[in-house]
Amino acid sequence: MTASAPLRIGILGAANIARHFTAAVAGSPAVDVVAVASRELATAEAFAARHAIPSALAGYAALLADPEVEAIYNPLPNSLHAEWSIRALEAGKHVLCEKPIAVTADDARAMFAAAERSGRLLFEAFPYRSQPQTLAAARLVVEGAIGRPRLIQAAFGFPMANPANIRLDPELGGGALLDAGSYPVSLIRLFAGALPQRVTALAHWSPRGVDMTLVANMRFADGLMAQAACSFGTGVYRRAVLAGEDGTLSTDFRNHLTVAEPGVLEVSRGGWEPRNEAITFPPTDGFRAEAEAFAAAVRCGPTAWNGIGTAESIEVMQMLDAIIASARSDGLPIAL
Ligand SMILES: NC(=O)c1ccc[n+]([C@@H]2O[C@H](COP(=O)([O-])OP(=O)(O)OC[C@H]3O[C@@H](n4cnc5c(N)ncnc54)[C@H](OP(=O)(O)O)[C@@H]3O)[C@@H](O)[C@H]2O)c1
Repeated sequence: MTASAPLRIGILGAANIARHFTAAVAGSPAVDVVAVASRELATAEAFAARHAIPSALAGYAALLADPEVEAIYNPLPNSLHAEWSIRALEAGKHVLCEKPIAVTADDARAMFAAAERSGRLLFEAFPYRSQPQTLAAARLVVEGAIGRPRLIQAAFGFPMANPANIRLDPELGGGALLDAGSYPVSLIRLFAGALPQRVTALAHWSPRGVDMTLVANMRFADGLMAQAACSFGTGVYRRAVLAGEDGTLSTDFRNHLTVAEPGVLEVSRGGWEPRNEAITFPPTDGFRAEAEAFAAAVRCGPTAWNGIGTAESIEVMQMLDAIIASARSDGLPIAL
């Protein structure tokens, strides 16, 4: 194996998102998907046949024991992220774990502690973080292009029709906040560069007890206020506006930038007679970008990773913990 040899990745579970991930990295010089494991061998075999993956395994433990596999992609339901990422790290594998990294900040801390102990890398897979639109937005904010951020509004909603979907199951870490809301909350953490001091939230709940639509407010020590919204009951809607002292920046913080749906950053500066600029970016598949950054980090060192880092992943989970706790407390009633 050379420093530039493709990273040999095994996939834990024949998840829907794993199909997209596998298709996106096919042909990448940096990554080879060499094995897939499923709870049922037939499922793994069908997935492997469809994607030309050489090895199909019964049970996730078999994947962790496979010496051909250097790194794991973990697209299991949210409630299984911590257990199987920790088991993979303890088996000596590097881990790219789907968002949200866990269902609580304590679980996230335990996962990164396992990475530290094992000397292996663990990263959270947020494809929008590895594509150039988001990287440029973060750079512009740090460079002061719109001045000090004062307000952020970020939202992600989409329809959820299938009642059997893992996102509607409280036992599997379901709920709009952990699923869709982890995007705007992580974007707010990125632009704020800090944890909020206080949060408040309200939600509508499903009969099974998962949040279906949720809005959260956050106050930061430096005067910034932010609002995150998420829903399983809207048309597909993803947008963030960041207002600073000298201008505004808006982004749809897409996972993938295509010719048909390019990523655009709209930047407006100049007070009441603003100068507007629309910055466009080349087509980029976020799954491939994050997988190649993961491979580069394993081969060349963690600074090659361009996505969300350890401290930030934990802080986003702290924010999600506080938001869901506030939503469960249900705010104040209107006095009648
Ligand atoms: N980054 C992104 O853009 C993105 C997009 C979508 C989803 N995600 C994340 O990816 C993860 C999976 O989402 P998905 O939509 O792909 O889910 P999914 O299609 O339901 O796949 C989850 C897989 O987990 C395995 N599994 C193990 N125990 C299970 C259980 N008790 N119930 C159901 N499945 C179980 C199954 O694989 P086997 O039966 O083969 O073992 C199943 O195929 C979630 O964490 C989600 O947040 C990320």
